[in-house]
Amino acid sequence: MWEMVNNRRILFGENRIDEIPGILQWYGLKKVFFATGNSNPALRERIGNALEAAGITYFVYNRIKGEPDLHVINNGRDLFLAEDCDCTLAVGGGSVIDAAKAINMMATNGGLAEEYQMSGRAVTTLPPFFIAVPTTAGTGAEATKVSVVKNNYNGLKKSMYHTTMIADVTILDPLVTVGMPKRLTAATGMDALSHAIESYVSLNATPISEMNGLQSIRLIKRSLEKACAHPEDVKARADMLLGSYFGGCAISAGIGIAHIMAQPIGAMYDIPHGDACSIFLPLAMEFNLDNATKKYADIAEALGVAVHGAADRDNAMRAIEEVKRIRTSIGAPDSLKSYLAGQVADLDFMVETVKKTTGHITCNPRKVDEQVYRQIFELAL
Ligand SMILES: [Fe+2]
Repeated sequence: MWEMVNNRRILFGENRIDEIPGILQWYGLKKVFFATGNSNPALRERIGNALEAAGITYFVYNRIKGEPDLHVINNGRDLFLAEDCDCTLAVGGGSVIDAAKAINMMATNGGLAEEYQMSGRAVTTLPPFFIAVPTTAGTGAEATKVSVVKNNYNGLKKSMYHTTMIADVTILDPLVTVGMPKRLTAATGMDALSHAIESYVSLNATPISEMNGLQSIRLIKRSLEKACAHPEDVKARADMLLGSYFGGCAISAGIGIAHIMAQPIGAMYDIPHGDACSIFLPLAMEFNLDNATKKYADIAEALGVAVHGAADRDNAMRAIEEVKRIRTSIGAPDSLKSYLAGQVADLDFMVETVKKTTGHITCNPRKVDEQVYRQIFELAL
């Protein structure tokens, strides 16, 4: 038994962002809560001018710096209401989209973000209309109903989610990702690959998540190295944007041990999420190898490294080697060392922190315990 939720509408292609005002007009919307970052003022201006020309006003919310926390969300919701907005437009990376997702939900549901995150407060009212435009290719936030938020009081990253929180419309316009620096392209690409691979071997995988996962892997294999080597290659950017989107669709089936370890450790040592995924993904694959052999062999096929007629285990190992090769080729990190800045890793503390956020580890193909966390941390150092 399973279910999944998708965006109602997806617009893919160059310059599709120009259609935002027309979509909002069709729904009769008048005032946009425009959540965005500060890295691309020209893009913000272009969209703002187009909205004005269509007679739509907007309020820019650009206080989302780094991964969103409770304050950014509660503050955003207060401003959404004070400014009398009637819809949300998120243009940015995963942090901006996740923050906007939670703000938009709370605009009609009330309360504080911590109540939804920590106390299980229920979402009872349909959120306002919501358009998501990803400007990076990796998090898949535009395809999910989940918002990952940092809790200011206990330092943990935890999700809040509901079926109705997913963006109504997602616009995948490769031109808005062309300026992404190589380092960010590599890290977000490894995040997307982690979503695809971890969800594919998840015990909760479904026929739809598997289809999305494999397609994501094929696209990332075809274009991640190209997008890093040739940032202006629009075709490679388009593949990565789609690969990331399919990866986001696939993670409704659950993520595995690479993400489980990447999330709290990323928060503790200030490691960008994609970098942390890059470090843990091959280690997670090696750990799970004998519990999902056939599935890793399928992944080898999608990566184009499977040998016809070879044993599944041999092909599964080829998949792991290929992920490592891609990681090296794009200069993505393979060790936690440089992030510790000379500090001695406090393994006990790291293990305890991961244990506190292991609520969703039930779908990893191999059983995980404290000893496993410790062992994988040691390998990642
Ligand atoms: Fe991720």
